[in-house]
Amino acid sequence: MCGIVGYAGPRPLKGVLMGGLRRLEYRGYDSAGIAIERDGELQLVKVTGKIQELENRIAGMDLSGSVGIAHTRWATHGEPNDLNAHPHTGCDDRLALVHNGIIENYHALRTLLLERDHRFTTETDTEVLAHLIEEHLENGKDRTLEDAVRLALQEVDGTFGLVVIDQHHPGKLVVARRGSPLVIGVGENENFVGSDASAFAEYTRDIIYLKDDEIATITSSDYSVRTLQDEARDPVVEEITWELDQIEKGGFDHFMLKEIHEQPQTVEDSMRGRVFPDQCEVKLGGLEDVHDILASAERIIFTACGTSWHACLVARRLFEDFVRIPVEVEYASEFRYSRPVFTPGTVLIAVSQSGETADTLAALRLAKDEGISVFGVVNVVGSTIARETDAGVYLHAGPEIGVASTKAFTSQVTVLSQIALLMGRLKGTLSKKRCEGILHEITRLPEKIRTILNQTDSIIEIASVFSKVNNALYLGRGYNFPVALEGALKLKEISYIHAEGYPAAEMKHGPIALIDDDMPVVVLAPGDQVYQKVISNIEEIRARKGRILVVATEGNETIRELATWVIHIPKTLDCFYPLLAVIPLQLLSYYVAVARDCNVDQPRNLAKSVTVE
Ligand code: AGP
Ligand code: GLU
Repeated sequence: MCGIVGYAGPRPLKGVLMGGLRRLEYRGYDSAGIAIERDGELQLVKVTGKIQELENRIAGMDLSGSVGIAHTRWATHGEPNDLNAHPHTGCDDRLALVHNGIIENYHALRTLLLERDHRFTTETDTEVLAHLIEEHLENGKDRTLEDAVRLALQEVDGTFGLVVIDQHHPGKLVVARRGSPLVIGVGENENFVGSDASAFAEYTRDIIYLKDDEIATITSSDYSVRTLQDEARDPVVEEITWELDQIEKGGFDHFMLKEIHEQPQTVEDSMRGRVFPDQCEVKLGGLEDVHDILASAERIIFTACGTSWHACLVARRLFEDFVRIPVEVEYASEFRYSRPVFTPGTVLIAVSQSGETADTLAALRLAKDEGISVFGVVNVVGSTIARETDAGVYLHAGPEIGVASTKAFTSQVTVLSQIALLMGRLKGTLSKKRCEGILHEITRLPEKIRTILNQTDSIIEIASVFSKVNNALYLGRGYNFPVALEGALKLKEISYIHAEGYPAAEMKHGPIALIDDDMPVVVLAPGDQVYQKVISNIEEIRARKGRILVVATEGNETIRELATWVIHIPKTLDCFYPLLAVIPLQLLSYYVAVARDCNVDQPRNLAKSVTVE
């Protein structure tokens, strides 16, 4: 699920591989390792903990050679320790392998291999792959590494992105994929592989996205791609769509802070060339060929995970309001194992920052298999979800490195708003006049977000109080209930403070029992349709001596009488308050995490791209 780097070429291996791991560090991991092949000999080092530990361990070691692989592990099977870290080897240490994903039938395979006298040294599912490949190499005279990997993978159920090196096949990397992303970087007299292109983007911009069930052999001078059924493939070389400085911190202390501050720009980028208020038009190139499907759609199912799921909750209201058709929002992990009833005219929209989330991918495949039109709203260009959907819209938010998603959320809501507006116009459920007003307002949002970012100082003060609590409650209603969920998720993800998001009125049905003078409550109370109702909920908290942080609309000074702290956001339309209200909550969780000395960009136990189910 985490980072893979592989290199074949003349550059110093240590630098390329460790640099690659650092670039992938954002993905979240618990241990790291490296293996190189030099003159038919393998050298392998792996450690628990951060990449820096690995750097310390290999400092002064000569790790030069012709090919090498490196890995950051996000443990699924077996605790994070030195032994379980990748690369893994078979019995006689002739080969080394790194793997992302899960081998589902590892238990049965391990039992079989033990009966055949293989000795296991780790608790991982991955180790069976090393033994299987080793066995196929040893059983077939003159068998190529690629053939051995292919034969081994025929016995395997589950998901993998893997890279193997073998001392008897010097100068060669064999890579294969099913379910876990892998990208080949094509250079001059050198080639790379990575779990994403940031691993090697400083060396080449030419990339090949390996597809599911493909296997590639890579040397410094060549690469070839075949299917796991041994058919030749003619891979398409594409170009990286982003610049290197987009994956650097640009003077900010953390990627998350940089990404929060990028939002005026990223929200604007997600509507660039798409929104024309004066003509009352939304042009989404990726959906142009499917206007007829959108116009005749009778029901929409959104599917996603985590923050992307929260964006879908906001979208549900937008679509119900503008398009007037039934909308459902499904957790992809639940949806994929349900028996959904797809009525005629159902359209599924999968929303994902990474475009690689295993559950979201499985959910969209389920719908596709049933003949449903499947569209994607994805950030990472060329990602699996982007490629497997029938049509879709990119966010154009640029690489999001911080594990806690921020700019992707606001771009998702912006793009989903545009799709809702487009559909509303196509279906005739949204009047030209209303659409015009909404489009004018959407273009003003980047500037409004900027004004909120200027309030950082007061947010830092509030964060110092929040940093000392163990629990927090987030409340919102209507369009802002999903923002309450998102605010709570941000806080727990990066500061490890328990936080709950709730619809404000639902509080009476349980969580109100938690309120005392200790637990702070964040209430989203912009001047929208449900403002008065939210005020009543605030009174209920006050009556129980709760400390309240209210996010209110600029100009609302009376709210100070009811609140312990107030953060003002600019006035906008009801449907766009989520885009503004989420910004102070992102900043709050960031500064709370900093005050608690937490690892903001790589929170414990989390991975950026959840490619296992
Ligand atoms: C967000 O802060 C999370 N780390 C997580 O919930 C994330 O949104 C989720 O895993 C979905 O990822 P995706 O958008 O890449 O599919
Ligand atoms: N399932 C493997 C393990 O637990 C791979 C983990 C990963 O994707 O990082 O070691």
